[in-house]
Amino acid sequence: MNTAFIEAFGGPDLVAIGESRLRDLQPDETAIRVEAAGINPLDLKIAAGHMQQVFPVQFPYTLGTDFSGVVKAVGTQVTTVKPGDRVVGRTAPSSGGAFGRYLVIAAADLCGIPAEMSFEQAAALPTAFGTARQGLFDVGHLQRGQRVLIHAAAGGVGSMAVQQAHHAGAHVVATASARNAALVKSLGADEVIDYRTEDFTEVNDIDLVLDTLGGETLEGSWSVLRANGRIASLVEFGIQSRGTQAGEFVFFASATPFLPQAIRLFQSGQLQIITDSIFPLDEARSALEKLATGHARGKVLIRLSH
Ligand SMILES: NC(=O)c1ccc[n+]([C@@H]2O[C@H](COP(=O)([O-])OP(=O)(O)OC[C@H]3O[C@@H](n4cnc5c(N)ncnc54)[C@H](OP(=O)(O)O)[C@@H]3O)[C@@H](O)[C@H]2O)c1
Repeated sequence: MNTAFIEAFGGPDLVAIGESRLRDLQPDETAIRVEAAGINPLDLKIAAGHMQQVFPVQFPYTLGTDFSGVVKAVGTQVTTVKPGDRVVGRTAPSSGGAFGRYLVIAAADLCGIPAEMSFEQAAALPTAFGTARQGLFDVGHLQRGQRVLIHAAAGGVGSMAVQQAHHAGAHVVATASARNAALVKSLGADEVIDYRTEDFTEVNDIDLVLDTLGGETLEGSWSVLRANGRIASLVEFGIQSRGTQAGEFVFFASATPFLPQAIRLFQSGQLQIITDSIFPLDEARSALEKLATGHARGKVLIRLSH
């Protein structure tokens, strides 16, 4: 039993464990023996059938995009990696495949991982680190000395965003529940607001909000912005600017450009990877249910090896 897949849209209870076959390699592709996979809310949204317009999938669909593992075989034109290399990457969401023991992916989408980084740590990186980077800097244009409000700072994306914003010299205001306040401070937050007991809209003069929640949280976030402030939303696709305040959706398309930097920061001790829990593949349902609570602390991961 080597793969967690779905044959119909629904909740984690529809996830089945079974066998899958590796297809033949194209000249630019590699076969990977997956060692660990990172779970993202996107996996739940795809499984529920909510992403068919953006990332259509076909059944049977092996879940998961974020993976780390070992190169088993390479296509005839591949020169950048070789069998035995430890690598990390992200598959296209329509392809999935990370919750399977073996997957096929283009060599160009792989990044080597250093010996001191575990497979679990590597698998935590692709979506969370890359989305945080894109949201804060590519969309958010965050600059040294600016004030940034990061919602859900204890989550997968949030825990990466707090560290990146702190290292960029921003003043970081973060929302989290009280049990996660010390963690978020240790990652570099200057102020932590307990969203359950405090009103984050009392904060002001914010240059950038990283919106990880949408809904009421997004609505309230406009009032904390400076006149020319900006919201980078990970969830509200239709967000629009309001007067002088800018609103823009973050569409995370590829982890590949961000992975070398994530690894460098980890190696230099500037990036902590927070692990909520690690489940074996045959407990993929429980892993997805854990993420679906909306209260994971850092990343929920799946270990593929026994
Ligand atoms: N647009 C894109 O391309 C893109 C890319 C990546 C992610 N996303 C989206 O971004 C969202 C966040 O992803 P993620 O991986 O970071 O999720 P996650 O890891 O599941 O986030 C969990 C965290 O949310 C916190 N939280 C829950 N409700 C909160 C509230 N009202 N205020 C503050 N914090 C709250 C929890 O903290 P407590 O336990 O302390 O409550 C928990 O630590 C998801 O909707 C995901 O689909 C979009």
